[in-house]
Amino acid sequence: MHDRVIQLLISSCRLIESTKQAGTDSPQMNKSLNEINDTILKTIAECRLITKQLYPSVLSEGGLVSVITEELSALKLTGMSAELTTDKTAPIPKPVAEVLYRIFHEAIWNAQRHSKASHIDVILKIVENGVRLAVIDDGCGFNLYKSLQSGKFGGLKSMRRRAELMGGSFNIESEIGKGTSIEVFIPFSVG
Ligand SMILES: Nc1ncnc2c1ncn2[C@@H]1O[C@H](COP(=O)(O)OP(=O)(O)OP(=O)(O)O)[C@@H](O)[C@H]1O
Ligand SMILES: [Mg+2]
Repeated sequence: MHDRVIQLLISSCRLIESTKQAGTDSPQMNKSLNEINDTILKTIAECRLITKQLYPSVLSEGGLVSVITEELSALKLTGMSAELTTDKTAPIPKPVAEVLYRIFHEAIWNAQRHSKASHIDVILKIVENGVRLAVIDDGCGFNLYKSLQSGKFGGLKSMRRRAELMGGSFNIESEIGKGTSIEVFIPFSVG
């Protein structure tokens, strides 16, 4: 239900964007289109919050892989391509899946807001002693050191904190012009 709302709103944004590109030169028309665009972007953010609050029930309905697949489908409506690679064979314990979902969600939201990426790769793998998640974009990248100084890092900090609270680890690499990748490992006993 909520995902459908997000998809519709993203489609509307694309429609407005293409109307702009087809373009009348009227400054008034541009101004109102920009306003509509901003409003819709705020609504998408709001809907994402709702989805976030509902995450445990979303997860119990279809599991982590299906939630990730659904979110990547919604992402594709923004014009990005996205791919999930997974060889998930063992079930992931629910608390671990919940943390991975939150981290995944923040990572793709960051990629959408900040990266201008054209492609996102998501890798979910069960390893000997736990699970690994990577989210890799081919966007603009950023300077970790500068962002740290500017006092940002709310989302990135929370990703690290969540992983560490589960006894796991979080790593981020970013290179200007090349993109950003985050990698999370959360341990649990497999098998
Ligand atoms: N995938 C990305 N591509 C490019 N820049 C990024 C990416 N992820 C993060 N950044 C940069 O790092 C900064 C910090 O990200 P972080 O998620 O911590 O905060 P935020 O997204 O700005 O705010 P919020 O607290 O709402 O998450 C961002 O403002 C952005 O400049
Ligand atoms: Mg963020």
